[in-house]
Amino acid sequence: MSILENRKALSDAVWQVAEAAGYLWTKGWAERNGGNITVNVTEHVDDDMRAMPALSEPREIGFVLPHLKGCWFYCKGTQKRMRDLARDPMANGSIIRITDDCAHYEIVADSIVNPTSELPSHLSVHNYLLAKGSPYRASLHTHPIELVAMTHTNRFLEKDVATNILWSMIPETKAFCPRGLGMVPYMLAGSKELAKATIEAIDDDYDVVMWEKHGIFAVDVDVMAAFDQVDVLNKAAQIYISAKNMGFEPDGMTQAQMRELSDVFGLPK
Ligand code: 13P
Ligand code: ZN
Repeated sequence: MSILENRKALSDAVWQVAEAAGYLWTKGWAERNGGNITVNVTEHVDDDMRAMPALSEPREIGFVLPHLKGCWFYCKGTQKRMRDLARDPMANGSIIRITDDCAHYEIVADSIVNPTSELPSHLSVHNYLLAKGSPYRASLHTHPIELVAMTHTNRFLEKDVATNILWSMIPETKAFCPRGLGMVPYMLAGSKELAKATIEAIDDDYDVVMWEKHGIFAVDVDVMAAFDQVDVLNKAAQIYISAKNMGFEPDGMTQAQMRELSDVFGLPK
């Protein structure tokens, strides 16, 4: 019997990850095992689940994350494909609980599926969000083609250069990704250094940050909202590149037009 059975809220949260995973594959952003998703599902965990024995021994997170005490997460499995997760989320991901020392996790799921190699970044960010009292419960990492291409030149790595170009391509981008796009310099995938740099970038008031020459990392209330932010940003990148392919530098909306948008929509400054 699956751990999701008779747990509608938990099942809905996990199946929402499956739906988003299908979109990532369809978009062409999830080659092989590319990308990962974690969702804080603590609010959907009941007493029976809390009493379940772990399937795995406790494993080190690599950090002590005090705000994760008692927390539970659904995580994509490492080396698992988004397109497989889309039809079978419990065979391609697992549920983990953080142990009371806040330094380890154990798997409590249908079978032992080892969580994503980017767990240090995901869990550090969840710890940061809870410390801040944020309502955000989902983090998503994926490899969107046009946005990753833009990180292959120093020009777009300078603070808010890419943000301003992308915002100016189509009004929706600023409206639905109002904090813009942070930049994290190239660091080894899955490393603790990348996790630390990701929190620093998110702390600079971004919901979405690029990992140079690798991918994007987004946080939001749920996985669909995180996906939407990446989707509007990559759409803007595609418009920018389409204009360049037609042989001209796009004008972009003016700063005054973008200010007007912020005022009328009440966007964060
Ligand atoms: P995982 O398969 O371990 O989730 O890794 C995918 C990835 O995109 C690493 O950055
Ligand atoms: Zn990646």
